[in-house]
Amino acid sequence: MPKPIVLSGIQPTGNLHVGNYLGALQNIVKLQNLGDYQMYYFIADWHSLTGEMTAAERRRQIMITAAELVALGLEPEQLTLFVQSHLPEHTELGWVLSTVTPMALLQRMTQFKDKAEQQTKNINAGLFNYPVLQAADILLYHATLVPVGEDQAQHLEFTNDIVRAFNRRYGDYFAPIKPLFTKTARVMSLLAPEKKMSKSLGADHVLELADEPKAIERKLKRAVTATAGGGKSPGAANLLELLQAFAPAKIYQEFAEAERQGNIRYSELKQALAAAVSDYFSAFRKRRAELLASPRELPEILAQGAERARSVAAKTIAEIRRLVGVR
Ligand code: TRP
Repeated sequence: MPKPIVLSGIQPTGNLHVGNYLGALQNIVKLQNLGDYQMYYFIADWHSLTGEMTAAERRRQIMITAAELVALGLEPEQLTLFVQSHLPEHTELGWVLSTVTPMALLQRMTQFKDKAEQQTKNINAGLFNYPVLQAADILLYHATLVPVGEDQAQHLEFTNDIVRAFNRRYGDYFAPIKPLFTKTARVMSLLAPEKKMSKSLGADHVLELADEPKAIERKLKRAVTATAGGGKSPGAANLLELLQAFAPAKIYQEFAEAERQGNIRYSELKQALAAAVSDYFSAFRKRRAELLASPRELPEILAQGAERARSVAAKTIAEIRRLVGVR
């Protein structure tokens, strides 16, 4: 039996933060290490053109994201790690799929509506077509399992609609896909704990994986733990969850117990958490710096990943061309 094919990706939109890690990447590393899947992971740089980054920022963020993924333990020998734009096949399949996509399906996408509200001066057609390219990313490799956060659920349903539309028109070719949602709780902003942690809120709302111990301490000192109206503090709950994720079990249990007893000291919780996070990512910071300092290592890893991806993608495109009658 061939191993099931798992694929996911991430936009190169900034330094990764603990929300990205606990919400998605930790799970990718776990799935990789199980050894039960054939895995693809890619940097969605074509998707990132729908946003606001400059070309220079994009070029830099692609390399930073690649360095961070490798430093986190994505292992190029065990998982095909690549940059989307290194393969023209993604945009080629994207075009074919757009021609079987009913406009009405795209008009239902809530992420487009959200993004259109966020970037009112740049509501581009790429943003509208985003789910088509995402479907192409997945189907190009015949992936059947797609680990993503809940926010991507609608895009995966959309992908299955496209599978049906393509198969109805050109014959049974693509298999339906299944989402693999991660169970981890949503990580919240440090300064606005009612919102999901996100760089777009501001640098001090997030703990970046590359943050130095001093920065981690400073950001956590300022983290909001106060409650509105004396209820349970969402900020404190968030910090406790982070402590559970990053500290030794014993330390977490002490603080969880103090919380139950009602005598927890938030300044101590913040200190313990700062130490735990600094420690947890210390090897990561070192490896990240090494990779970014080496002129050869990352380009070689990404070239090898692209080559492996291409061997599959090119075959799919050849079959697609035959099926639609252009060759
Ligand atoms: N849209 C995803 C995100 O922003 C990134 C992405 C692009 C993706 N193509 C994909 C994820 C294909 C899974 C599969 O997080």
